Amino acid sequence: MTRPRPVIAIDGPAGVGKSTTARVLAQRLGYTLVDTGALYRGVALAARDRGISWDDEAGVVAIGDETELAFASQHDGTPRLLLNGEERADEIRTPELSAGASQVSAYPGVRRVLLDIQRDLGREGGVVLEGRDIGTVVFPDAEVKVFLTASAEERARRRVQDLRDRGTMADYDEILAKIRSRDEADSTRAIAPLRPAEDAVILDSTSLGLEAVVQHVLELVQSCN
Ligand code: DC
Repeated sequence: MTRPRPVIAIDGPAGVGKSTTARVLAQRLGYTLVDTGALYRGVALAARDRGISWDDEAGVVAIGDETELAFASQHDGTPRLLLNGEERADEIRTPELSAGASQVSAYPGVRRVLLDIQRDLGREGGVVLEGRDIGTVVFPDAEVKVFLTASAEERARRRVQDLRDRGTMADYDEILAKIRSRDEADSTRAIAPLRPAEDAVILDSTSLGLEAVVQHVLELVQSCN
């Protein structure tokens, strides 16, 4: 089945600039933006709400099954996570929830539940989905597939800068270690590991910068019309 408007898959590791790239693309194209990492964070938060340990795979999967996850759109198009109808978007952005999301994302039962939600959100096309396995698993038939890369050092440097801009002191070595450990966990898990799809275009956001990456993706979108 061909879609009238494309599905754009933006995959890559933590801190590579996926969210910014995806947001700018969605704004310029007038497409819906889907932050798939927020869904994993939502499952981790729902488990914590109910006092279920992230180590308890069966408990976490059951919570994932019964939790209603959806997005409300902010005026600038940024998706805000709704958990059982309640906006929880600000609570999922902590280092604790980053670690929890990474842990629960390794459970096949969690991935199965979230797969259906992600496919429903993208089915009609005209959508930018950012995540880890959009081009490989969620939409292997996406019309545009981009895998963003940047060195762990560059990603740590950006993260430190970002935190400092917001008035929070941050230790570069500590952040670099966290990025490396999350990369390792995300790319070595048995199910849907982080890796580029064979037909993905690989773009290095360190050397290119945001605007060049966006332009490159816009050209890919034009060429599939
Ligand atoms: O993009 P993020 O940092 O919000 O993602 C949080 C975690 O969720 C990340 O450690 C890996 C997992 N994730 C995933 O496994 N598949 C996705 N499509 C998106 C995120």
